[in-house]
Amino acid sequence: MSVLRTAAAASLVNPGSTVMPGSIHGPLLTPTPEPTFVTTNVDVYYATKQALKGVSLSIYRHEVTALIGPSGCGKSTYLRCLNRMNDTIDTCRVTGSLLLDGQDIYAREMDVVHLRARVGMVFQKPNPFPKSIYENVAYGPRIHGLASDRQYLDEIVFGSLEKAGLLSEVKDRLDQPGTSLSGGQQQRLCIARAIAVQPEVILMDEPCSALDPIATARIEELIDELRTNYTIVIVTHSMQQAARVSQRTGFFHLGVLVETDDTEKIFTNPRDKRTQDYITGRFG
Ligand SMILES: Nc1ncnc2c1ncn2[C@@H]1O[C@H](COP(=O)(O)OP(=O)(O)O)[C@@H](O)[C@H]1O
Ligand SMILES: [Mg+2]
Repeated sequence: MSVLRTAAAASLVNPGSTVMPGSIHGPLLTPTPEPTFVTTNVDVYYATKQALKGVSLSIYRHEVTALIGPSGCGKSTYLRCLNRMNDTIDTCRVTGSLLLDGQDIYAREMDVVHLRARVGMVFQKPNPFPKSIYENVAYGPRIHGLASDRQYLDEIVFGSLEKAGLLSEVKDRLDQPGTSLSGGQQQRLCIARAIAVQPEVILMDEPCSALDPIATARIEELIDELRTNYTIVIVTHSMQQAARVSQRTGFFHLGVLVETDDTEKIFTNPRDKRTQDYITGRFG
């Protein structure tokens, strides 16, 4: 312990000088982060049409993972596998192994309502409920029985709005409809709604594509802040956005996950020619 403290103290004075206790020399290796999701060999069919083919991808805790690729390549389909939103599509069939913290999310005994609280979702078009700003955020904690009394519910609602960077803009108008907010505010309200049920993971499917550049920048900043407490998977058609907000990127093409790597590596030195062609704008 004291060795660790000393090493940590030394690294504050002289960043980069830390040597792992017990190691002889050499830089501190970045510890391998812990995966939240481990998905292996995922195939998805809509009736007889195969939309995903043998996708194996891990999603790491407290990272932002971006999924990029041309339209129709299966990004949304993959995202929807992670909280079983594809269950709502009659023709859709998912096979393969999808583990959340080691637990099979397609197991018969999995409680899907609880799963969708643990793995929240934010959609392309902000979709507040036709209720007040307060009720939009309070709804989830109420149905999941998270708040025992009004005071605690208030705390959850205020805390969630604060984390979503919206509280200062709405605190005097909590009884007004969610739909009275601007597009960017509505999207942050949807993020507050997802946060209110204490998720581990937040899935975002092109969350900025209906927003102007200023609202987009605000959401991108927020995504970076949220990473401290949550694991985030974002589908985006904007390579600039993927590069700005994510630590890891997966490139999909025609239902296949072509490659996944550190975001910087994907955008500077991808391994696959298809990735290279896509990021240099040769198709997409
Ligand atoms: N509900 C659905 N029913 C039938 N086919 C679908 C459905 N949703 C998506 N698909 C098909 O699956 C493929 C992948 O779609 P999608 O996951 O939406 O791609 P992306 O999000 O990358 O644009 C496409 O060929 C699309 O037409
Ligand atoms: Mg999509």
